[in-house]
Amino acid sequence: MSDETLSNLMHEDRRFAPPEDLAADANVTEDWYARAKEDRLAFWAEQAERLDWDTKWDEVLDWSDPPFAKWFVGGTLNASVNCVDRHVAAGKGDKVAFHWEGEPENDTRTITYAELKDEVCRAANALTELGVSAGDRVAIYMPMIPETAVAMLACARIGAPHTVVFGGFSADALASRIKDCEAHVVITADGGYRRGAPSALKPAVDEAVAKSGDVVKKVLVVKRTGQDVDWDDSRDLWWHDTVDKASSEHEPEAFDSEHPLYVMYTSGTTGKPKGILHTTGGYLTGSAYTHWAVFDLKPDTDVFWCTADVGWVTGHSYMVYGPLANGTTSVMYEGTPDSPHKGRWWEIIAKYGVTLFYTAPTAIRTFMKWGNDIPAQHDLSSLRLLGSVGEPINPEAYVWYRETIGGDRTPVVDTWWQTETGSIMISPLPGVTHGKPGSAMTPIPGVSADVVNDAGEPVPNGSGGFLVLTEPWPAMLRTLWGDDQRFKDTYWSRFKEQGFYFAGDGAKKDEDGDLWLLGRVDDVMNVSGHRLSTTEIESALVSHPKVAEAAVVGATDETTGQAVCAFVILRESAVEEADEVGEGADLVEELRRHVQKEIGAIAKPRQIMIVPELPKTRSGKIMRRLLKDVAERREVGDVTTLADSTVMDLISKNLSGGR
Ligand code: WT7
Repeated sequence: MSDETLSNLMHEDRRFAPPEDLAADANVTEDWYARAKEDRLAFWAEQAERLDWDTKWDEVLDWSDPPFAKWFVGGTLNASVNCVDRHVAAGKGDKVAFHWEGEPENDTRTITYAELKDEVCRAANALTELGVSAGDRVAIYMPMIPETAVAMLACARIGAPHTVVFGGFSADALASRIKDCEAHVVITADGGYRRGAPSALKPAVDEAVAKSGDVVKKVLVVKRTGQDVDWDDSRDLWWHDTVDKASSEHEPEAFDSEHPLYVMYTSGTTGKPKGILHTTGGYLTGSAYTHWAVFDLKPDTDVFWCTADVGWVTGHSYMVYGPLANGTTSVMYEGTPDSPHKGRWWEIIAKYGVTLFYTAPTAIRTFMKWGNDIPAQHDLSSLRLLGSVGEPINPEAYVWYRETIGGDRTPVVDTWWQTETGSIMISPLPGVTHGKPGSAMTPIPGVSADVVNDAGEPVPNGSGGFLVLTEPWPAMLRTLWGDDQRFKDTYWSRFKEQGFYFAGDGAKKDEDGDLWLLGRVDDVMNVSGHRLSTTEIESALVSHPKVAEAAVVGATDETTGQAVCAFVILRESAVEEADEVGEGADLVEELRRHVQKEIGAIAKPRQIMIVPELPKTRSGKIMRRLLKDVAERREVGDVTTLADSTVMDLISKNLSGGR
């Protein structure tokens, strides 16, 4: 983000104090910051007490071999017991865990904690029956239905790390993840409902399984839509034939605090996604504590709704693990916000009396575009707190969110974190912080972050630099699946001397020392709050037979934050063909579809520009900065380090020439 954008952001100078009643009864008060600072490890040990441990830990943190952390060393626990059984044992079996709302109207289910426990136990027995044991990986490729949470918890119950792959990802993306973590079992559904129609999942699984050699032995399929599916009798099993028939009695085993809980793949700066590994005790401590502290959760009265898909880390921490560990009643919604009408989300809030609502800036900006009339038709008075995650929330969207959705009474918490951090790191505290629209404010109690310059020195207030986390935290990633070296290189080498975790984000400290996140400083884009690698999309483009070379940039986009813009050089033969038949536009569409097929719809470029050359430095590095200028329709910046300084003229001329 440029300085100009930043100063625009800072034009909004209203401050929003916590509502008095919320502050008076807040879970977390101002003194927590100092208390956590005074004895960080004691503070985290206190947070870990939120969980039920079978064996208490001997040591809070073992940091003797950085950057490989061990938290709550010697402790043992079962994550699914913490999310389910213990609430039933405490007499809360009848409490609703999920109000599930299918996309087709009136297709709803209410799942109590007691029902969830039975279902998780059945699924755990079924998975064991299929040969899954502790340590084995299970891939989950599902729509947003209750069975998805059940599948995750069943895996956790038997100590089998799950890897949930977003249902919008392609068969290829699924195959590469299945292969990388060698998942022998895949849990999926025939499909789910999206935009008013059934959307198939099983065919992508069939294709991915075929592409994964003989890794996958069993595919467990939930019948959701009833659409036709191909079936392999030796491999495929229906959930209703298997899980429904299994016993609802299951004796849970206590696992080591550091036992792997799940692997979540995310885009890095290279084409190969990174398998972020989270373990049990620390991760669950982090998600439970932050869910309770940042959302000021009152488990007996609140109804929480996080709109994220379970295929992303937000869905893991704030739809499954955090809320369930805290015994919360949550809403889970299957479909898109505009189905069957653009007020669906607000209708759901009114229907279930949602009090705490967590969504992404891109969604908020979309609703702004749709107009105030739509939310105005629904009773949103149950809401008492709003959250935002995924990218910086621009002050206009923040103020709109607060006023139009929150009735000008709810605090907005802008929460910064990453797949890697496992849970929220930087955020206002709703009962303490005087919120500034556009700023994620300060690290929460227990978390230590700073903004540093190139040399790793903290910058003074009023300056910008790189965001770092200066102390380990319980929910931190432990490594990248199967690649300790890449783990060290990616996060811990940039500020090795200082021992800081490098987040990959730029940030600024304002005059009060509050933090403003400025976006990625590496070749990673943020489209609708989802992380995409420029390199990954470039590889997808060059895998098309007509493409010789490709460069991808993230250009500012009013709704999605950033949008994928690609510059493509065609192979000689394709250029000639295109000229002859005048198929430029068709080809662009073909390439966009190709990216969708290779990676998924979220990666589909907004724009593809066919160009004769790409701007490169003498050492051959593509200067994406210049391409970004073109994509954002700005005057092109300094070209003096280009190997051939006329390239940009050539590109501009070519683009104004029609394509
Ligand atoms: C990247 C992490 C963690 C949930 C979803 C995304 C950006 C996330 C914010 C925020 C500014 C944010 C950062 C970060 N980001 N939240 N509140 N303000 N930027 O998870 O896919 O791992 O992406 O999203 O750039 O590094 P993710």
